[in-house]
Amino acid sequence: MLSQGLRRAVSLLTSRTLVRRQLSARIVDATYVELQPDKAGATTLTFPGVWLRDNCRCPTCFHSSSQSRQLDWNQFDASVRPLALHMDAAQQQLHVRWSDEHESSYTLDWLRQRSFDASSQRSYLDDFYRPRTRHWAGAEFEQIAQRFNYDQVMSEDEPLQHWLQALAVYGVALLNGAPLDEGVVRRLAERVGFIRRTTYGEEFIVQAKPGAKNYAYLSLPLPLHTDLPYYEYKPSVNILHCMVQTKSRGGSNLLVDAYHIADRLREEHPQDFERLSRTLVDWNDIGSEDGREFHNIWRAPVICLDAAGGYTRINHSVPQRDSHFNVPLDQVLPWYESYARFVQLARADAYSFKTQPGDVLTFNNIRLLHGRTGYDDTEQNSRYIVGAYLDWDIIYSRLRVLKKRSASSSSSSSSGSSSSSGPTASAS
Ligand code: OGA
Ligand code: ZN
Ligand code: ZN
Repeated sequence: MLSQGLRRAVSLLTSRTLVRRQLSARIVDATYVELQPDKAGATTLTFPGVWLRDNCRCPTCFHSSSQSRQLDWNQFDASVRPLALHMDAAQQQLHVRWSDEHESSYTLDWLRQRSFDASSQRSYLDDFYRPRTRHWAGAEFEQIAQRFNYDQVMSEDEPLQHWLQALAVYGVALLNGAPLDEGVVRRLAERVGFIRRTTYGEEFIVQAKPGAKNYAYLSLPLPLHTDLPYYEYKPSVNILHCMVQTKSRGGSNLLVDAYHIADRLREEHPQDFERLSRTLVDWNDIGSEDGREFHNIWRAPVICLDAAGGYTRINHSVPQRDSHFNVPLDQVLPWYESYARFVQLARADAYSFKTQPGDVLTFNNIRLLHGRTGYDDTEQNSRYIVGAYLDWDIIYSRLRVLKKRSASSSSSSSSGSSSSSGPTASAS
């Protein structure tokens, strides 16, 4: 694809292994730096010169203790060109001399981890940036729902990593064996990062209460919903710790993967999908907590999409949908028809199960719909659930740190392996 153009090449024999490998670099089209494979089957790596210059690792351009770029971008020349290359096989480094008279060095591992090759970028994005989601129908719940032991998650990194990975991929995971104390949700959240506070506090108690200020704090059936759709920054993950479960018939949890429902709408009812992903709905919550009045509103579609058509968030709540509906008159009835279809499909797909004392249900609040069947408390038995939220930024960050750590411990225990051990390679 790239024409021959200007090129300079330096080839050396690697001294790293007994096998003599050819390792070379050349400039292509005066702007690209191309690294030829040093082992059979490896692909050629091509890097834009401007990107390499921007990412120089020298102490002037890069501040190592903060791992941050500090090159002076007021002086940056986007037309900068590589003039000469030198491959240091012993150090496994590439040296570049630039048209702005600067010189830079990059380790080959660092370069390989930042390959512009489409499949490397795909695996970095799907495994390290954010795990690729797998959508599921209610009937598949028992196959996809992974269960973890609370004590192991609290004390060992591997179960912690697997729990967070399952949560990211499937949007739900269960922990069991938690002690029956109110500190569990905080300890779990702090094992990951820190609790996301909302109007309702940090930890909250879900219990039937007289004069309930939130619809959930009744023993009535709680229809499928997402929590806090009226926040622009909606809490990401719910942690619900069952301390006392009702002995009456109800109190079961209902869960639906709304990404699966959205997939079905997109496929089977494209017009409904279109309306639900374009129409801004007013979500609200009005009340007071600890003497402070609040009036929350956020306008967003039921199905929120990114520029590529991927899902970013689902909003659904019957009680928390505002009576203000700021859309043109002629859009109202069609929207109701489409929303009714979405709710019907979701309800028909809901998986129902009942957590027991010591179970902690964790799920993605911006993806799954959840609900609860109605129940009856008695004097001896009142259902008692402690909840808290975590945010995805905090969870993904923790997951990446765990993945880097487990990749570096597995690569140091398998010394002699020539594979790179950075994030891309660590992705499983
Ligand atoms: C809630 C909720 C679920 C339950 O409080 O928003 O969904 O099991 N509770 O009570
Ligand atoms: Zn530099
Ligand atoms: Zn809820």
